[in-house]
Amino acid sequence: MPESTSLTFDLLSDEIRQSSAIGAEIQLPPGMPMLDLDRLTDNDKNTLRKALFENQVIVIRNQKGIDPTVLPSLAKIFDPNASDVHSAGEKAVSDPKNILSAYKAGRIPRAPQVGIIGSGRFQYYEGLKELEVVHLDHTLFHEEPLSQDELDNGYTRPYRWHMDTPFYERLPGEVTILHSIRIPNVPDQKMKFPDGTEKTVGAGATAFFSGARVFSLLTPEEQEFALNTTVTYAPQAYEYIRQCKASENGLTIPNFGREVPVENLSEWSWDKVAEHPMVWRNPLNPDRPFFQVHGCCVYKLTTRNPATGETTVIDDVEKVREVVYKMQSKIYAAENIYAHHWQEGDVVIFHNRGVMHSITGQLAKYKEEEDKRRLLWQCTMTSTTPPSPSGITRESTTRVM
Ligand SMILES: [Fe+2]
Repeated sequence: MPESTSLTFDLLSDEIRQSSAIGAEIQLPPGMPMLDLDRLTDNDKNTLRKALFENQVIVIRNQKGIDPTVLPSLAKIFDPNASDVHSAGEKAVSDPKNILSAYKAGRIPRAPQVGIIGSGRFQYYEGLKELEVVHLDHTLFHEEPLSQDELDNGYTRPYRWHMDTPFYERLPGEVTILHSIRIPNVPDQKMKFPDGTEKTVGAGATAFFSGARVFSLLTPEEQEFALNTTVTYAPQAYEYIRQCKASENGLTIPNFGREVPVENLSEWSWDKVAEHPMVWRNPLNPDRPFFQVHGCCVYKLTTRNPATGETTVIDDVEKVREVVYKMQSKIYAAENIYAHHWQEGDVVIFHNRGVMHSITGQLAKYKEEEDKRRLLWQCTMTSTTPPSPSGITRESTTRVM
């Protein structure tokens, strides 16, 4: 057998993938320790697309030193119509009215599509004299916070499952790319699930679940409903929920009442409000459905009866959250969640239109300790292509998992 000179990929082990249908590792072509896009053949790029759109999250190990300007070009392999604008806008979000400003994410001056996230203070990093990045805090985020005992025993939770997009004005990118620069020297942590299972996860692991797996867990009636439903997100979605707290599993907002009244939001207009199908298509296999909904930012559901063309609207936000939660929460079991255990130098590419992801980790208390700081790059660019109306029928769906 001649030695392969192409890029290849291997699925992560069954032990890690479990029932998540997520995860593959890329092997760069021999003689290419660092990703070099100019040397990838069309065949290599097709293999990358196949690896991602079949497995939703792919990792390239040992990429320490990669130039940040490579990431936007890498993203365009998966979304040729990506704009060169970070999903959060030209500049990092600093408006205190926007919940996303709490992360204090910076940007890399030589690659403005690449954000810097993490935990702790850094000096003279990438031309930034002072950089402070903030990890979310378990004591502030959930309606029912972890107890002191759970915190002392290293438990963590998903903060809020989301796709990378503001759900207002800009369209979600097809992919997000993360690159780990510094891993906190903190012992592994644990997540608890409703059936009593516990999952050990790296401190600061990024957790993912597949929208295809969610779809496969729905009843035939729910699948039919999902395929015919359009989701309208709240105007200025993150500002609308900025005072709301998440459920323990990070999938919804359990109590209605703290939403900012729409008349008090920053200026907004209906034409910029995000409206997306409940079910999204896979770019490589258009009949493979992904149930992709941000359960905290939802506002209205419009369902069309395919036989009569009649539409039914649910516009009571509390009810909308309930309907979405009933369907999406079926995924919340240890075996359906892939939690990426970061190694320094990892480049992780995820299918932003095919998975929901969440930050995990109790790191805030360590932020002053030099070796427990965390630094990641995040490249997520607004796409210019709207997610296509599903147009999928239940008969045409390819059952995955
Ligand atoms: Fe994210």
